[in-house]
Amino acid sequence: MELRKMLITGASRGIGRALACKLADCGEYRLVLHAASQASLAVTESMLPQGCQYDVMVCDFTDQVATHQFIKDLKSRHPDVYGIISNAGINRDKPLIYQPTEDIDDLLNVNLRVPVLLAKMAMKVFSKRSEGVFIAMASCVAETGNAFQAVYAATKAANNALCKSLAREAGVMQPGCNTRFVSVSPGFIETDMTGQLANDTKAKYLQQIPSGRFGTAEDVAAAIKFLLSDEASYINGTEFKINGGLV
Ligand code: NAI
Repeated sequence: MELRKMLITGASRGIGRALACKLADCGEYRLVLHAASQASLAVTESMLPQGCQYDVMVCDFTDQVATHQFIKDLKSRHPDVYGIISNAGINRDKPLIYQPTEDIDDLLNVNLRVPVLLAKMAMKVFSKRSEGVFIAMASCVAETGNAFQAVYAATKAANNALCKSLAREAGVMQPGCNTRFVSVSPGFIETDMTGQLANDTKAKYLQQIPSGRFGTAEDVAAAIKFLLSDEASYINGTEFKINGGLV
């Protein structure tokens, strides 16, 4: 049986690492793991099951020239990719008036420009194969907004709009193709990204979560694994929320 090839960006830690481990464990996929540097991927690699076959691609997504080369390499090395999980993301929480332009550029590059370029590649390669799933990471703050996360929230809302639009675009340009574009909106997930928050901020979030706990990277990975599967074949052009009831 041909293993479906899955690209996961930002596989070095957090949700990306949990997803890499979950997909590797089931043995149904061939992984392409992206990280900002080769060294940062070491822990993920050590957690993969023995004999797991995967390829590694390195790129710092704040660097537009490097990103251009990354997309080019991806197209030539993996034109048969079935799933693209655009997971890499950054937050730079600050009041907008104090946010340096470099921070704004980094947020736009990593959280929006890269997903758009990956989605463009997905449109091309999926149409050739007549199948494929593109997953973009949004966030609950795309819907609610959040103080000190204006640019972050804006980029995440854009990922929702991107997937909704491309599902419709694929329906028009590639009718009958088994391609899907879905955004995933986690709530508060315990990873390095949220680890920086002050304890009283975390306590306030916890009070608002009906499930009574923060989410784990494995919670999100399990949902994405489902979205990538044929069982989710009618989930398209929509936002999938994993938030324990947090709104
Ligand atoms: P994390 O900070 O633990 O991991 C982020 C990943 O992105 C890492 O693998 C990192 O290497 C990669 N990355 C960061 N900057 C990069 C760059 N310049 N070039 C290439 N790769 C880079 O974050 P986490 O929590 O695993 O987040 C994963 C995704 O989920 C992100 O898109 C994030 O915005 C989103 N998300 C996370 C939530 C949470 O509560 N943790 C909530 C909602 C959305």
